[in-house]
Formats: sequence, C-alpha cells, structure tokens
Amino acid sequence: MGKIIIFGLGFVGITLAIFLASKNQNVIGVDIDKKKIQVLKKGISPIYEPRIEHALKKALMKRLVFTNKIERISKDDIVFVTVGTPSKKDGSIDLKFIKSVSKKIVELIKNMSDLPLVVIKSTILPGTFEDTIKPIFIKNSISSKNIVINPEFLREGSALEDTLHPHQIVIGGERKTAKTLEKFYRKIYSNKVPIEISNHTTAELIKYANNSFLATKISFINSIANLCQTLPGTNIDQIARSIGRDPRIGSLFLNAGPGYGGSCFPKDVKALISLIKKRHLGSDLLISVHKTNLNQVKIVLRLISKYVKPLKNSSISILGLAFKENSDDIRESVSIKLIEKLLENHVKVKVHDPKAMKNVEKVFGKKITYYKHPKDCLKNSNCAIILTSWKQYFSLSNKEFSKMKTPILIDTRRILAGKKINVKYIGLGIGE
Ligand code: UGA
Repeated sequence: MGKIIIFGLGFVGITLAIFLASKNQNVIGVDIDKKKIQVLKKGISPIYEPRIEHALKKALMKRLVFTNKIERISKDDIVFVTVGTPSKKDGSIDLKFIKSVSKKIVELIKNMSDLPLVVIKSTILPGTFEDTIKPIFIKNSISSKNIVINPEFLREGSALEDTLHPHQIVIGGERKTAKTLEKFYRKIYSNKVPIEISNHTTAELIKYANNSFLATKISFINSIANLCQTLPGTNIDQIARSIGRDPRIGSLFLNAGPGYGGSCFPKDVKALISLIKKRHLGSDLLISVHKTNLNQVKIVLRLISKYVKPLKNSSISILGLAFKENSDDIRESVSIKLIEKLLENHVKVKVHDPKAMKNVEKVFGKKITYYKHPKDCLKNSNCAIILTSWKQYFSLSNKEFSKMKTPILIDTRRILAGKKINVKYIGLGIGE
C-alpha cells in the first residue's frame, strides 16, 4: 500500500490528513508555508474546528507527518491536491496555487513509467482540468489519465464530522482511474455512501452548482424574512419550517440571517457568474442571489438606525464575529462588514466572539473594543446585535442584558426569540 500525499494544508487538507491517518493510511501533509508546518508538527492547528487539536495530536502519534518539501512520489501513492483557489478582483478564480502544485507534481513524476493517482479536491471552475491542469502534464509528456476531480463538500465548523460522514462522493475522470479512487474510498467509507462518477468537467460543475444552489436557498429565505419584517405578526422560522416540509424544497439551509459569508459561497457564486457571462448566457438569477446577500448587511444597519437614535457616538455590542458558529474564520463575515459601516457612522463598537477575536483584532486593531465575556461587552451599550449562532448566546439572560444603557436587541439569527428577557427584542424576519 502506498502513502497519501496531500498538497495544501488549509481546511480541507488538514481535515483530510487527520482523517486518513485515523484510517491507518500513511499520510504526508505538504505546504509551502514553513510556519504552518512548524505549528502543525507540534500538534497545534492553524485553524479552529471543534476537536481538531485532539484529533491532530492523535494522528501525529500514528501515521501523519508534515513537511514543506517533498522529495519523492511512488507509483502506489495517492496524491491529493487541496490548495486554495481564491477570488480575483473580477470574480474569476486565481489558479496560481493549482498551477504551481501541478508543476511540482510533474517534476516529481516525470521519470516514472507507472504514474500515481492524482486527486484534485480544490474547487475549480468547469474547464480548469482541460484548459489548465492537463496541459501542464501533457507539455511534459506525462499522461493526464491518472488525474481525477474529487470535489469536497465539508462545512467549516463541522469539518471532521462531515469528512467522516460524507453525504456523497463525486469523482470525475476517466472511468478506470475513477474506479481506482472509488475502490480506495469504499475501503474507508460505508457502502451506503453514494458515489457519482462522471467526466472531469461535470464533476467540476457539480461543486459550483451545489454551492450556488445552497446560496440561492439562503438568499431566497432572506428575501422572505425581509418581507416578514414589514408584516406584523409573521415569523420567518415558521414559514421556513412549513415550506421545508415539502420534500421538493427540503428543510435545510433555510435559516434566514444576516447573509452568507465564508470562503466558499461568496467566491463560488461570483466565479459561476463570471463563467456564465463568459459563455454569453444570462446570469440574472445568480447576480440577484449575490446582490440579495450583499444587501442583507444594509438591512441590519437600517434596523439599527431605526432603533438607535442618534446613531452617531452610540455604543453598539456585536455578539458573534466568525462567519458561522464553531469556527474562527472571519473571511467574508457579515460582522466585519457591519463593523466597517458602524465605524463609518462614528459608532463605538464593542465585540465578543468565543473564537474569532484574534483574527478580528488583526483587521480593526484598537478601533474597536474586545470583551472576553458577553456580559462585559453588553454593559453600558445602546444596542446589541447577535450575528453568529454560537451556543453560548442561546443561554443569554437578563443577567447579561440588565447592564445595557438602552436594552435593545437585534437578533439576526432569532436564537433568543420567545425568551423572557427585558429588552426591546427585534428578531430579523419577525414582523414588527
Ligand atoms: C459551504 C458548503 O455548505 C459546503 O458543502 C462546502 O464544502 C463549502 O462551502 C466549500 O465549498 O468549501 P461553509 O461555507 O464552510 O460550507 O459553511 P456553511 O455551513 O455552508 O455556511 C455558509 C454561510 O451560510 C454562513 O455564513 C452561514 O451562516 C450561512 N447560512 C447557512 C445561513 O445564513 N443560513 C443557512 O440556512 C445556512
């Protein structure tokens, strides 16, 4: 049995490395970032995920090693590519990491007669394999038949859990190669996990269609939530619960809120829009999904302005900075956008988050004030806004809210709806 080599130690790479080591595979995690390698070797995770450090330390004791230089690949190895594909200014994706890793792999395998299996897990637009990856191999007279596209569907905040229990596996490539990877996964996962085998481009598009559809669901429910806000007595959660019972709609991803953030939905929707435009097709639907999402922060700001008068020089507490609970990631987080807008309006901003404060401090420094406990964050404040559904916030009570100067709570996730607290309660999506 060969080893597993994983290029790119972000969310997907680290989680995959830990998971495969726990399944008794010999894993080498590779990244060009020397600092990252140093901390990982010590069992410290550069990203926060529930239980990740415990799992990492366990894996390091077993079969996982990290390096920033890989010298050799053997024919029986499986090489996973999990490098990032960030957004460029025009919305298209930046392939520089994909290109450099492909070149590195070419360099390592160019003299081999039997080639290892290369599995691209990074999110890449349809056509990227054919137009960018394949030519790098062909130019060096290496066949690309052993390369497959295998998109990842894990969510931040539940990355380990999702890797352990995927709802499906998608493999795009030549049938024989795809079947080799299928056999590998069948050894690891239960036979019940559906495996979809397609060609490269279809697999690439499945990932974008999947994320864009989920983003569409969120923007849709947010549009209805905004309407609810204007219809006294209506409640978006009741509507979501009810329409979610229709099996044609489904109940998941109908939680209205301040808009989707993170490193995936905003980037992937924009990239798909840019591809559709390049093909001279109308991308009105996804443009609206994107615009609706951008508008959500304005809706929250409008609510604040309605209740906090004057806004200038007021003191506002933000509860939740990460783009979602159980994560310290603030990429495209709505909280960051809202803080920027509040600062423009000369508001004194106070913040709390169980995990993401360090990252936010790197953005705002001393422009805002950071509190370890929600109670201190709320003290003397004119308004509190819940933006992230951290479990700590579900148990907030009068004990924490009683010290506010003017007890106004804007709950964008409605986690305290119906609770007996002495505040002016405004739930996003609950008719006022
Ligand atoms: C998303 C997808 O859910 C994963 O399947 C995919 O693998 C990943 O992108 C990726 O492409 O790498 P992620 O961004 O980690 O995962 O987290 P989600 O749980 O999808 O949340 C994304 C955003 O949508 C968050 O800001 C969240 O608060 C928001 N959201 C989600 C809602 O506002 N309402 C919902 O009902 C669900």
